Amino acid sequence: MKTKVNIYISGILIQLFIIFFFVRINFPQSSSKEKSDAIEKKVADLLSKMTLDEKIGQLVQFSGTNDDRDELVRKGFVGSFLNIRGASEVNRVQKIAVEESRLGIPLIIGNDVIHGYQTTFPIPLAEASSWNPDLVTKAAEIAAWEAAANGTHWTFGPMVDIAFDPRWGRIAEGAGEDPYLGSVMAEAQVKGFQGDNFIGNHSIVACAKHYAAYGAAQGGRDYNTVDISERTLREIYLPPFKAAVDAGAGTLMSAFNDLNGIPASANYLTLTQILRSEWGFDGFVVSDWNSIAELINHGIAKDKKEAALKGITAGVDMDMAGDVEAGNVYLPNLKSLVEEGLISEEIINKSAERILRIKFRFGLFDHPYVDSIFFAKNIPSREERDLTALQLSRESIVLLKNEESLLPLKKELNSIAVIGPLADNQEDPLGPWSTNPIVEDVVTVLKGIREKVSDGTNVTYAKGCAIESMDRSGFDEAIKIARGSDMVIMVMGESRDMSGEAGSRADINLPGVQLELIQKIYELGKPVAVVLMNGRPLTIEWIDENIPAVVESWFLGTQTGNAVADVLFGDFNPCGKLPVSFPRYVGQIPVNYNYKSTGRPHNPDQKFTSRYIDYPNSPLYPFGFGLSYSEFKYSNLKLQKLKMKKNENTKATIDITNTGKVPGKEVVQLYIRDLVASVTRPVKELKGFQKIELKPGETKTIEFNITPKMLSFLDINFKEIIEPGEFQLMIGGNSEELLETSFEVID
Ligand code: BGC
Repeated sequence: MKTKVNIYISGILIQLFIIFFFVRINFPQSSSKEKSDAIEKKVADLLSKMTLDEKIGQLVQFSGTNDDRDELVRKGFVGSFLNIRGASEVNRVQKIAVEESRLGIPLIIGNDVIHGYQTTFPIPLAEASSWNPDLVTKAAEIAAWEAAANGTHWTFGPMVDIAFDPRWGRIAEGAGEDPYLGSVMAEAQVKGFQGDNFIGNHSIVACAKHYAAYGAAQGGRDYNTVDISERTLREIYLPPFKAAVDAGAGTLMSAFNDLNGIPASANYLTLTQILRSEWGFDGFVVSDWNSIAELINHGIAKDKKEAALKGITAGVDMDMAGDVEAGNVYLPNLKSLVEEGLISEEIINKSAERILRIKFRFGLFDHPYVDSIFFAKNIPSREERDLTALQLSRESIVLLKNEESLLPLKKELNSIAVIGPLADNQEDPLGPWSTNPIVEDVVTVLKGIREKVSDGTNVTYAKGCAIESMDRSGFDEAIKIARGSDMVIMVMGESRDMSGEAGSRADINLPGVQLELIQKIYELGKPVAVVLMNGRPLTIEWIDENIPAVVESWFLGTQTGNAVADVLFGDFNPCGKLPVSFPRYVGQIPVNYNYKSTGRPHNPDQKFTSRYIDYPNSPLYPFGFGLSYSEFKYSNLKLQKLKMKKNENTKATIDITNTGKVPGKEVVQLYIRDLVASVTRPVKELKGFQKIELKPGETKTIEFNITPKMLSFLDINFKEIIEPGEFQLMIGGNSEELLETSFEVID
């Protein structure tokens, strides 16, 4: 009898299982609305069980673990850590949070995964030079896999600060000077890091930083004051953040800088009014390292308690208490601020809610631990990771000059001298913010060249000089090998720590005696190619005037040497385009392409116009510029309509022909100018681009959709409008060489 009952019960269970299984696989998964409602419910339930201390705990982030902090985690007083890496340490401290704290809320572990984790991709400024968002997404996806495998749930990236000023070292970490390109790159990275709504436990939460306008630091000096108009803020600096938010970025980081008198980490306008009310962002904001405590240095808070008050009321949810001595203002102060009635508990609830929402949305409650077996089985293969890095590195290289087609070189040359402090260097090509690279994996330019040339080619190497010192003792050896060679390749530039955070320079020439060495080698009369490695535009007028071939390689990461050699020897046809203008001289800065006309537009022949008397206004290399081994001819620019209503779309077409001898890729760029508007508009603004590939002799007709969005701007009340009138449309291969036409917009 007992057995019969058992059999009967098992039968029911099997049927139930089948029904359950059938329902699971045959009916659509819950809609995203249902999913987000479910998350909101979980957040509310959890919040209702939390004490004030526990809620404040979610708002606290420490750098690194120790015994005292383990104890705080156990009490539920820590929401996050940064700078801990490796599955075992992350799982250890996570276990305390999940299994030993009262409510078992998992920690979110953040790290700076800026351009790769182990596989190091090109620095972001270089990635932007590829104008290839799909490849940038792929790189971010790989970075996410590697970081997640090592316990990172959250990256402090992408860095989406627009920067015009190459003196600012952090220009290396962003996408350059243009809000449109910056927005495309912001979206590409968010998608890569986060995947589709965090599906799969190999994605990581993105953090768009540094909010806001950190790139406008006066004089290009890091951490310096930013004083810009609200128009400039909204037109230039905010769009990439908006793009990141629209792409679903879970978090933002509030910046260090003063912003028009209210530091960015206490700025209600940007953190609450714009971000939450106007854009509807429902994720959380983390401060930059100690940036709430630094409100004291800014002179808007008398002590840490007031700093905490200003940070939380402006809308900074989490305190990155980086340097615990100076930082850590929320944990010790928020409770008393509530108890004294200086802030409401509701403010703490809101911040805790936003943090919990992201933890739920990211799936941390379901998968708090790193599952190393999953990663060992599923992480993209070494080969796939390297190939992605190689392809992105190749596409990030910008050919700046190539007189008489000196490049590409023949692999069968008799002898090549490779010279320069960056030629046989594995550290510096990693660039600033390389998270966990294996330095020995970095392919140097020397190695790349040696592996590329024929067996009969004699490749010799001399360092010649150091990156920064004034020591000329290596010159003789370099001159000797150059004299004995058919071709000289000089690999020159900056060290990786000369850009990135705290890497501002007042002089952006090649450092040390490098230019002097180039000049000495040049005097020998040998063909010379200069390969540059640097985290910012450099002033290289002499090189541009005298050296026939110049290759900008930025910092390309792990695959540096392979990518550079592919370009030098023609296995890859360069196709990168500058995301930032190169000044001729530091005194010209800023030389961005999207300037305003002024009342006295520049005329080189008329004194009383907006110009310098000692230098041209123009940059050495403009935004969007980059050569190829192919040549591209633009013709036949046409518009479907020459007159259109404000809310209509139209199409522009243009023919592009590869008149060169090799297949090549070209970035076709579209710029628009609103000729008369109620607010002054830039002389041109990038509004679209397409990267295309053409065989020799091939012509393609490229079509762009011209949408109302491309014609709009912010009126005097910062409302987006389109005003009737004449517009200029320009298409070409860089921001200066463009075909033009115009059209009219009517009411
Ligand atoms: C930087 C941020 C970075 C943070 C954490 C700060 O100094 O400004 O970009 O994410 O440190 O490492």
